[in-house]
Amino acid sequence: MKTFTTFDRPSGWSSLADAFREDFAGGHRIQMAPWGGLAILGHSELSALARNPAADGMAPDETAMAETPAIYHLLTRSVFTKSGEPHRADRAALIAALNRVGIPAIARAAIATLPETASHLDLREDVIAPLVRAVWASVIGYDREGALALERAVQDMSHVLSMAPDLSKAAIADAAAREAHARSLAALANGAPFARALQASLGAETAADLIAGMAFDAIETSTIGLTASLRVAAAHRDALTPTPQCANECLRLVSPAPMTMRLTTAPVTLGDVQIAPGTALAMVWAAGNHDPRAFPAPERFIPSRADARPLMFGMGQHACLGHALVRATLQELLAFFLARQPEITGDTSGWNILLPADLPPLKISW
Ligand code: HEM
Repeated sequence: MKTFTTFDRPSGWSSLADAFREDFAGGHRIQMAPWGGLAILGHSELSALARNPAADGMAPDETAMAETPAIYHLLTRSVFTKSGEPHRADRAALIAALNRVGIPAIARAAIATLPETASHLDLREDVIAPLVRAVWASVIGYDREGALALERAVQDMSHVLSMAPDLSKAAIADAAAREAHARSLAALANGAPFARALQASLGAETAADLIAGMAFDAIETSTIGLTASLRVAAAHRDALTPTPQCANECLRLVSPAPMTMRLTTAPVTLGDVQIAPGTALAMVWAAGNHDPRAFPAPERFIPSRADARPLMFGMGQHACLGHALVRATLQELLAFFLARQPEITGDTSGWNILLPADLPPLKISW
């Protein structure tokens, strides 16, 4: 079996389809992960495993996180690292709480705060980051100061929670994890329906842990994902529609969470591969989204695709709980884009999702 080295070649791709082209051409749909376990690339393989209850959450490694005990604590309490009944219970409580959120109205209200005209704003810093902050603050109940502090905390945590961690900033990142928890606990007092429901079912401390544990996805991944999706939209103006399919196609091409981890809890058979219990599975969603068997001509932007189900939010019992929030915000952004026809300038050529900080800045005017 081939060893997965795609992530060791982090430069020079013009698209994610390019990055995985050789893997798929060679039939290397399941590979050995150099850090242990398996890397799963093929769409059908990812889909089968994602739905298998024996591919569950993977707890963080305490030894590897010795320098960041608060981040370690946050991760152990987060829903995506849990497995079995504790995972099901937390997930059910989160889903019930999210059902109390008026997602389309929150997304519309956030877009309505954009100014009538704008000149050379930074797409990420001046437009998308404030929108994402506003959406998440409405869901959780953060006030303006709390939302800004949370955003800074997430930026600081990303020194460690990244594909290329910088342990020289471990102390800053760890303090940020404590800040994220404290801000989330404080926000519960503001009585937003989501936070109220979660606190009622799980108690304040657990609710704050779960909320703080979602901050990275809710702020950082969402900001990068929406910014990069608008880059795709800018490059395909003539094919845009403000529809869920079009939002999906932008997100498929971007794949903002390129890989997440699962761990097998029982023997699993996948085609002719036997997977032992306790095997770490690197679920390479970005690869599945560019598998030519599932998405013919995977590099092309085709909003009318009715091929396979895109995997940017994962699938199955650990699938992303924020997908509706992200999709609704992107759909509103696409409608805004179509109505205002903004000018976007800057380098829109290939960039590497594995190094999100390198996303080339773009300017937007309308
Ligand atoms: C563009 C933005 C986002 C992307 C690309 C993304 C992607 C993902 C992916 C790939 C997973 C793993 C799925 C799996 O293993 O099957 C995940 C899990 C998760 N996401 Fe997101 N996410 C985004 C935004 C959000 C937001 C806004 C929230 C806030 C509600 C959120 C909450 C979660 C949670 C709680 C989980 C863990 C679910 C579980 O383990 O049961 N995500 N996300």
